[in-house]
Amino acid sequence: MPNLATPIPLVSVFSFGSPIDTGAFASSPFAWSWTPGTPPAWCRVTESASDGTAEVSVALGKADKIAGLGLHVGPLNCRGNTFCLFSTDNSVHTPAVRSMYGAHSFHLILREKPVGLFVDSPSEVTIDAGCTRRDTLSIRVSEPGWRLAIIEGSSPTEIIHRYLLLTGTPYIPPRWAFGFHQSRWSYENEAAVREVAESALANDIPLDVIHLDIHYMDGYRVFTVDESRFPNLEKLSADLFERGIRLVSILDPGVKAEKGFPLYDEGKAKGFFCTKADGKELFEGAVWPGRSVFPDFFRADVRHWWGAQYRKLQSMGISGFWNDMNEPAIFYTPESLGEFAQKIDSYSQSDEHLDELSSMISRPGLGNRRSYCEQFLHEVEGEPRPNKAVHNLYGTLMTKATADSLAETAPNKRHFLLSRSSYTGMHRYAAIWTGDNHSWWEHLALNVQQLISLNMSGFLFCGADTGGFWGDSSPDLLVRWTQLSAFSPFCRNHSCLDSRRQEPWAFDQETLGLCRDAIKLRYAIMPYLYGEFVRAALSCQPFIRGLFLDHDDARDRLTGDQFMCGPSLLVAPVLEPAATQRHVWLPRGAWLEASASAAGLSGKRVVSGGDTRLEVGIGSMPVFLRNGSLVPMAADSSAASSLSKGVPNRYKLLGFTDTEASCWLLLDDGETAYKTWEEWPKCEVKVCRGNNGWSVAVDFGAAKRRPLELEIEMWDSSVSASRLTART
Ligand code: GLC
Repeated sequence: MPNLATPIPLVSVFSFGSPIDTGAFASSPFAWSWTPGTPPAWCRVTESASDGTAEVSVALGKADKIAGLGLHVGPLNCRGNTFCLFSTDNSVHTPAVRSMYGAHSFHLILREKPVGLFVDSPSEVTIDAGCTRRDTLSIRVSEPGWRLAIIEGSSPTEIIHRYLLLTGTPYIPPRWAFGFHQSRWSYENEAAVREVAESALANDIPLDVIHLDIHYMDGYRVFTVDESRFPNLEKLSADLFERGIRLVSILDPGVKAEKGFPLYDEGKAKGFFCTKADGKELFEGAVWPGRSVFPDFFRADVRHWWGAQYRKLQSMGISGFWNDMNEPAIFYTPESLGEFAQKIDSYSQSDEHLDELSSMISRPGLGNRRSYCEQFLHEVEGEPRPNKAVHNLYGTLMTKATADSLAETAPNKRHFLLSRSSYTGMHRYAAIWTGDNHSWWEHLALNVQQLISLNMSGFLFCGADTGGFWGDSSPDLLVRWTQLSAFSPFCRNHSCLDSRRQEPWAFDQETLGLCRDAIKLRYAIMPYLYGEFVRAALSCQPFIRGLFLDHDDARDRLTGDQFMCGPSLLVAPVLEPAATQRHVWLPRGAWLEASASAAGLSGKRVVSGGDTRLEVGIGSMPVFLRNGSLVPMAADSSAASSLSKGVPNRYKLLGFTDTEASCWLLLDDGETAYKTWEEWPKCEVKVCRGNNGWSVAVDFGAAKRRPLELEIEMWDSSVSASRLTART
């Protein structure tokens, strides 16, 4: 019989075998009080006595839907699909893809009585969501020692809330990280980086962050800087900082296996790298620097050592970090390459193996083979364990090393940390992006599903490479993607080295102007985005929300082409090329259609729930305000070109209500970490309709009073708009 604990009301966690502490839960499962117990009959668990594998199976009703599963490819409703949670560097995200960079095993079954299931196993977990048998959800765990959380609640929102109470409060980055990030693989030298900053300024594009991709390193040796390309990184970062732009640098886990490279020599001498099964010979696999070894992040001493390395870059003025390739990605091993070369050589001798040769040419299959990971060991809780038993935690533990080090250096400050690979639990201390997408319209559409699913699974601060990573973006694709990303928590334009330049200014004047409008819109609504993001995270709720979460009449609509951005804004991004019209479905009630521009949002017309068609010329960004909301914005978005400059004193607000509406203005310094919403410095603005018209009140609570100027545009459902001003 498995063991059972109930760490949170209506959450039952069952433990099978002897699981390790994966860090998925906010509090350690070793501290919970466990008693013997069995899962309810509707959730059948079968364990194999011979190999310790197990299957969880749940009968599905005809209309049941399955949402969640964090980073995946496919529709928002996962039903009918199969998935394999085994973190991998999968660089072509087609519908055939089963495994992505992360493993987030949170399933939300939507039915009359919804329920959440979370499977905590760091090994491969495969999910058959009613594909093989339409009436069964089957989750297979490949290694012994795992946990199953069953989360009950009266609504999907309540279940997600409990899931987040169980797994912990989502990560909140510093305010500057909400700004616009510009990246490329790579801005290869100082001049290229300075040129990005200059171009942003010259073209009036607000910019808070530039990313340094792998070329800043010396021969891709991690934690080094190529001094011929970046002779004075300290000066560069200081100059940019002056202008409100920060640098974020990429780090990969593979350490170049090269005698004389101090990090390699030291790690080797200390026994910090993963070995093969004999526990002696170092496992070598090739990544960007060529033959590399991989730190064993499962050990606390290795994490501590690795985390300390980031301080060198911090001392050069790097403000945030981007941990990449940490599934880990392995291009080949010396053995697999040798074998490959041998085969090609022998095939070249005769035409006998032409079929094999041609299939090897089109699909060399050298990269990221499962068998590579099967070869190396980790030391997990003092015991040697093969990678496959704990695979999905590798990137998370690398990122934990970084997060712990950053917290040690500046305990009361928030940090910016981005990771490609992730496991549940990492959502408490880092952001993720959706990896190497393509400049395809299909991937623009996929971005919406991924924002919703990742937010549901706890990764609130996430986003995709705006414009697409691989391939050439068209001007219109970049415009539409920038318009979507204006509402995405993480907003970064990034592209790969052989694609055409993709910065907003790399196309024509029209594209530049349209991208500028979208980015400025983001900066204009920043008080809303930042405030509601923080409020969502601290109240353990998703920030980007599928419509089905908040609106009863949307329960059956698992359509991934519209979303709520915070509680007040319904966003209906345009996802098709050359679209001139867009169909939008609005939940019951009245909505205020907004005009969205560089200046922010203002009211346009009141629309009732149901189907509506909009004209959507290339500049239009369809947004609707929910009845009862007040959206705070910066009064002058052109001045808000850098978020480092502090909290504005002048705001514009757009409201829609027949009675009253309120909103929060965060008054923090942008960096200090607060554990609760109550502690966060803020004020509440309330607008009420009385007999004599509208009145405004500002409540500073425990925060220090400060002079604020508010310009308010209020709408009601009788379609009248009023303008008022207030000062404190
Ligand atoms: C990986 C990352 C990508 C980065 C590239 C080079 O493909 O996913 O974002 O630009 O490596 O470092």
